[in-house]
Amino acid sequence: MKHLIGGISSGGRALPEIGGQAFSVGRSEGPWLWDEQGVRYVDTAMGFGATMLGHAEPAVVAATSAALCNGPMPSFAHADEEGAAAALAGFTGDLSQVIFVNTGSEAVHLACRTARVATGRGRIVKFAAGYDGWYDAVAFGNAGHPTALMADTRRPEQDGMLLLRYNDFADAEQLFRDYRDIAAVVVEPVLANAGCIEPAPGYLKHLSDLAHANGALVILDEVLMGLRLHAGLSGTLLGAEADLATVGKAIGSGVPVAALVGKPEYMTLFEQGKIIRAGTYSGAPPACAAVLATLKQLAGADYTSLLARGDRLRADLVAAFAQKGIAVSTSGYGSVFTLWPCAVAPRNYAEAAQVADSDWTLALHKALRRHGVMTMPFAFGRVYLTFAHDDAALQALLDGYKAAIASL
Ligand SMILES: Cc1ncc(COP(=O)(O)O)c(C=O)c1O
Repeated sequence: MKHLIGGISSGGRALPEIGGQAFSVGRSEGPWLWDEQGVRYVDTAMGFGATMLGHAEPAVVAATSAALCNGPMPSFAHADEEGAAAALAGFTGDLSQVIFVNTGSEAVHLACRTARVATGRGRIVKFAAGYDGWYDAVAFGNAGHPTALMADTRRPEQDGMLLLRYNDFADAEQLFRDYRDIAAVVVEPVLANAGCIEPAPGYLKHLSDLAHANGALVILDEVLMGLRLHAGLSGTLLGAEADLATVGKAIGSGVPVAALVGKPEYMTLFEQGKIIRAGTYSGAPPACAAVLATLKQLAGADYTSLLARGDRLRADLVAAFAQKGIAVSTSGYGSVFTLWPCAVAPRNYAEAAQVADSDWTLALHKALRRHGVMTMPFAFGRVYLTFAHDDAALQALLDGYKAAIASL
């Protein structure tokens, strides 16, 4: 009898077997990963976005290893903790105060708690088909679940969490007409977990303005998108005005760390003892060392060229499918995008749900794996590119797709 439930500790990361064989990673480095048999793949899952620098980035590994050797859990404030917070604040503008935690889910949980205490209100809002972690209240209305379509006349609600239709200006206005006790709107700047649906022009500004006019805070959930489009918050770049934000993934380059960042007027509530923060491992030395080593590199990274290279790849993929008479499109950006089996990429979740084809994505995933490319195997999955995806990796990726398409 096997003991690990489902063969992996997080349900969303399970891969299908091929020919009765389960997949198991041997090691990963840069844009590559190797299975236990030593077969190499170009990786596009990249820890589900948990690095912009590539797997096992040498400076991050060295700094984290040194911190481990120096004592991973000293209980008390340590030499790198303020430095890591200061480094992170250099990327987050007005949101200059920092609390480190271990996962994005924790950071979102803390952000919601902060908004409730700051406003004295009870309800929080998240996007239908968005993903803000797996804690009770937010684990609701996710992409693929019927609730995410918001087909009923009543707005879905669970444990004080309401759903809002992404990119729907009128739905946001209706929300604030219907509810006077909204503490915050949790805003994923790009509906990335529903297949990289981009914000409509003016949408994030409209939503932020509405929230603020109605006394609610704006929490940017940047766990996935933070530091992925530029060396800062993606939501700010795309027009949102935030009071609090959650970051994770990219800030630690694969080492577990996340953070709540916020305006001093809200974050001071923690120091006043009005909000509890805790966590045995929060801000531990290996996490802070990883943040420092990662941010040092991201500060000078050439995002413009990464996004341009990614956009070229998107165009090449569309052309490769077209050569075989298959119409596909992509949504998102050069560093994170989704491939759709239709000519025009969806602009909202209703359209995404209609074109999402799990069987198509799964068949493509298996064909790609047979040709040396690792992808996320589900319809709303994403292709993540990092600064480690050099010309050789991108060529291997394109060649793998061409071979896989030919075999479909
Ligand atoms: C937008 C967003 N928020 C929150 C989370 C939860 O982060 P974690 O898996 O680190 O708990 C994720 C994870 O993918 C995410 O994409």
